[in-house]
Amino acid sequence: MTTGFIQQHKRSRHCGAFRDEHVGQQATVYGWVQSYRDHGGVIFVDLRDRTGIVQLRFEPSHGNGTAHAIADKLRTEWVIGARGEVISRGTNINPKIPTGAVEILVDEVTVLNEAKTPPFEIKDEIDTNETTRLTYRYLDLRRPKLSANLALRSRVNQLTRRYFCEDHDFLELETPILAKSTPEGARDYLVPSRVHPGEFYALPQSPQQFKQLFMMSGMDRYMQICRCFRDEDLRADRQPEFTQLDLELSFVDVDEIRTLLDGYVSLIWKAVKGTTVPTPIPSITYQEAMDKYGIDRPDLRFGLPLSDLTEKLAGRATFRVFTDAFERGGIVKALAIPDGSSLTRKDLDKTLPAEAAPFGARGVAWARIAEDGAWSGPVAKGLDDALKTELLAHMEVGPGALILFVADKASVVNASLARLRQVVGDRLGLIDPEMDAFCWVVDFPMFEYDEGAGRWFAMHHPFTSPMDSDVGMLDSDPGKVRAKAYDLVLNGIELGGGSIRIHRSDVQDRVFALLGLDEAERRDKFGFFIDALSFGTPPHGGIALGMDRLMMLLCGADSLRDVIAFPKTQRASDLMTESPSEVSPAQLEELHVRTVVPTPDA
Ligand code: AMO
Ligand code: AMP
Repeated sequence: MTTGFIQQHKRSRHCGAFRDEHVGQQATVYGWVQSYRDHGGVIFVDLRDRTGIVQLRFEPSHGNGTAHAIADKLRTEWVIGARGEVISRGTNINPKIPTGAVEILVDEVTVLNEAKTPPFEIKDEIDTNETTRLTYRYLDLRRPKLSANLALRSRVNQLTRRYFCEDHDFLELETPILAKSTPEGARDYLVPSRVHPGEFYALPQSPQQFKQLFMMSGMDRYMQICRCFRDEDLRADRQPEFTQLDLELSFVDVDEIRTLLDGYVSLIWKAVKGTTVPTPIPSITYQEAMDKYGIDRPDLRFGLPLSDLTEKLAGRATFRVFTDAFERGGIVKALAIPDGSSLTRKDLDKTLPAEAAPFGARGVAWARIAEDGAWSGPVAKGLDDALKTELLAHMEVGPGALILFVADKASVVNASLARLRQVVGDRLGLIDPEMDAFCWVVDFPMFEYDEGAGRWFAMHHPFTSPMDSDVGMLDSDPGKVRAKAYDLVLNGIELGGGSIRIHRSDVQDRVFALLGLDEAERRDKFGFFIDALSFGTPPHGGIALGMDRLMMLLCGADSLRDVIAFPKTQRASDLMTESPSEVSPAQLEELHVRTVVPTPDA
């Protein structure tokens, strides 16, 4: 094994770059042995790097005399260097790979490193479980799809910096990772201080306060591709540490921020997918999204709007499930499917209720309308003919339709039906996988009331400005106050969220008070920030896009794990480095930390 070869021979180009036009040239290539075959003396080796595969050809009597013998010993994933002439494969082209018209007739080959047999084959189509793949993530990343995702991510980062910093006057500025723990938001990741016994830093959930402080500093336009940390329940589109494209601008209103972001996603989609995003990206109010889709991040790739039937049914329907819900102050909404014939009795009795159950639905009632107009299903008996006719007209469906009903409190009804709409859209093939449906969700309520906690919470975050027209209701009717907040949604996934901020210290203080922070807590947690607001803060606003989510959608991946180099599992572990892990008693001592590990349930 020699690295002298590397000193003598510089790589001519990456494996995936060889084309017809290079025939006749001398080439040096480096990479990993993907596969080898002996065709009656002539040995073929597929050599791989992150750009693709090129075929090496070893003829018995060709080259420096050792090449063929070395080739005979090569095994998969060995690292080699080779040089020789690029020759045409004539009629033997391999149309499956971009380099398929050529091969390299090797004069000299050197083994740079041998490799143990990997725990799974390095190719896209494998059924190896994710645990093994994450344990050997560096091997997983050799697979073409994953390495292409990372390369694309790099490209998107470059385009992003160019769009904001070069074309739109943003400064790329950095913010601290060791920051201050503040209430509101998700749970913090804490870092104990050695120097200040008993005190902790928090890893930032986002640079929210710092980016606003940049506006107070006169930086005018800030951008950062930054890491954020949140200790929350994980799922396919949530990681404990994730990356935001974080932006903040002074002297702007909502429209300007939206236009800037419309331009950004258009640019990225054009560059990466070659598609045109129609702009301006349409908007929908929070209220309309909740009414029609039951969710504040609607998937607009298909129709199937929900209908609120509460007014029509209350006092008229005798179906017990509905009357019970009304008695408890609940509502009834329905999903009307114009042609529901492909949904079976098993779907109605098992699959759909099971999909809705995690959202709190105690069942899913249904009615099927036969071709002759007759109703069947549990709801049918509880409605008179006039009411049935009225409902069909209201939902704009007729014979052949299937109607799914959920009765409960509004939050359960909306969440359950939003899920059912997605499941049915999927099942009936209503979702075009090639389509990208962006929308802005606007006019969010400023606060939501948490019954359990018995207090108001900021729906976006506590720095979000109320609408000017609604400021008067801050004390009298907080539930009615709308925020200058906006979310960018793509295909039912929240890509980003932002707002115009409060720039007056008195309003900020009132909002903190409304969120239940007493004077002392306000001073302790946010004193510096309220002070800063009083030294000439420009009106400002911003947004953050989830870059992992953006990449997931761009790559057509199902999980953030496919676009993050070293992701965590659903249980927030890194299986490769086995983190988190215990630390030595000496380390804990030095940090003034004692741990209390719960005993597992018997
Ligand atoms: P927000 O909390 O809405 O806003 O976050 C912005 C975007 O970040 C992404 N995101 C996540 N991605 C992966 N894993 C997670 N756990 C996760 N949490 C959030 C989402 C989300 O839309 N400071 C504000 C922004 C602002 O007001 O300017 C903020 O962080 O795509
Ligand atoms: P039951 O009379 O309890 O058997 O329920 C009759 C039908 O109503 C079944 O299809 C249940 O799935 C459905 N159902 C039960 N509770 C609800 C609810 N809260 N909302 C909608 N449908 C329900």
